[in-house]
Amino acid sequence: MDVISIIRTKRDGGALSDAQIDWAVAAYTSGEVADEQMSALAMAILLNGMERREIARWTAAMIASGERMDFGSLARPTADKHSTGGVGDKITLPLAPLVAACGAAVPQLSGRGLGHTGGTLDKLESIPGWRASLDNAEMLRVLDEVGAVICAAGDGLAPADRKLYALRDVTGTVESLPLIASSIMSKKIAEGTGSLVLDVKVGSGAFMKTLDDARALAETMVGLGTDHGVRTVALLTDMSTPLGRTAGNALEVRESVEVLAGGGPRDVVDLTLALAREMLDAAGLPDADPARALADGSAMDHWRRMIAAQGGDPDAPLPVARERHVVPAPAGGVLAKLDAYAVGLAAWRLGAGRARKEESVQAAAGIELHAKPGESVAEGAPLLTLHTDTPERFEAALEALTGDAISVVPAEEAAA
Ligand code: URA
Repeated sequence: MDVISIIRTKRDGGALSDAQIDWAVAAYTSGEVADEQMSALAMAILLNGMERREIARWTAAMIASGERMDFGSLARPTADKHSTGGVGDKITLPLAPLVAACGAAVPQLSGRGLGHTGGTLDKLESIPGWRASLDNAEMLRVLDEVGAVICAAGDGLAPADRKLYALRDVTGTVESLPLIASSIMSKKIAEGTGSLVLDVKVGSGAFMKTLDDARALAETMVGLGTDHGVRTVALLTDMSTPLGRTAGNALEVRESVEVLAGGGPRDVVDLTLALAREMLDAAGLPDADPARALADGSAMDHWRRMIAAQGGDPDAPLPVARERHVVPAPAGGVLAKLDAYAVGLAAWRLGAGRARKEESVQAAAGIELHAKPGESVAEGAPLLTLHTDTPERFEAALEALTGDAISVVPAEEAAA
C-alpha cells in the first residue's frame, strides 16, 4: 500500500477503501507512515470529510491498534460518560462517585486539558497524593471495591489515537467531525463500558460552535457506539458560558466537593443529575435516585473512598494561588454575557492549562466567577477573581477578557 496515493485520494475529495484505512492507521501506529504524512492525511480529512462507512472503519482500525478491556467480571453494570470538553466542566468529579453510589460501576478514563479546555486528570491531580496512572489490575480493583475510578487511559488502549491526537493538536487538525468522533469512540469502545452517555458541548467554549455541528457529531458518535454494542446516548449542552463558578484545577475540585456536600452552583448540580439519570437508565438502573444519593451523603462517601483508593487525601487542604487579581464589573445592570472561550483562554494563560502535552499546569491557577449571565451586578463590584502563582501572567489573562468577552446591560434592557 502506498501512503501518498491515500493522501491524494482524500485530498481530491475521494473516499478511502476499507483496506486503505486499515493500512494507514496500522502503518501510522507502527511508525511506517511518518508524522508529516499523517498530518497531510488528517488535514485532507478535515477539509473534505469522510463518509459514514469511512468513519466507522477508521474507528474500528483505531480500536484494533491496541487492547480491549473487559469488565465482565464485575457484579455491577458499567456506565461511562464523556464530555467533548468545555470551560469549568468539572462534572465528571461529582458524577462518577454519584453514579457509583446508585449501583453502577463507572470506569472513567479521562484526559488532560489542552488549550482553553480543562482536563479532569489535571483537576484531580491538585489533590495531594492522588495518582492518575493505574495499571489495568489496579483500575479493576478500585472499580470493584469503590464502584468508580477516574484514571488515565493505559498505553495499550487505542495507541493509534494517542499518537494521532498529539499530532492533530499541533497541526491544526483537531476540529474535524470524523477525527473527533473516531478519537473519542475508539477509546470508549476499547475501554469496554457497557453503556455510554455523551455530553456534547455547543457554544464558544466548545469544539462545536453551532447546534447543527454538535448534533451531527452526537449522531455520528451514537451510531458508532451502537454499532459496537455499547448503549450510547448523547445530550447537547450549553458551553457559551463556563459551567459553575470556577475554571481551573483546584478551584474546580473545591466546587465539585461542594456539589457532593449538597451545595454548589445550580447549573453544575442540574447537569450532574441529568447525566447521572441518563447513565443509570442506560445501565439498566432506571429506578435509582441520584438526587437522594447527593442529599444523603452516599455520593460524598464514594468520592472519599475513590480519592483515597488512588492515593489521595480527601481531607488535605487544596493548593491556593500565591497571587490574586480582581476584575470589577464594567457597569451596573445585568450580566448579559461572560464568554466561555474568553474565560477558558484567560484561565489557561494564568497557568491552569498547557500549550503542549509535556508541560505541567499550576494546580491553583484559574478564575472564580462572582456572577453568572442573568445575574445583577453593581458597577465596580468584583466580577471575576484571577488566581495564579506567577503574577506576570495577569496581563495576558486580562487581555483575553477584553473586547466582547463580558457584557453588562441595563436591567430594563435585560428584562425586555
Ligand atoms: N477528545 C478526544 O478524545 N478526541 C478528540 O478528537 C477531541 C476531544
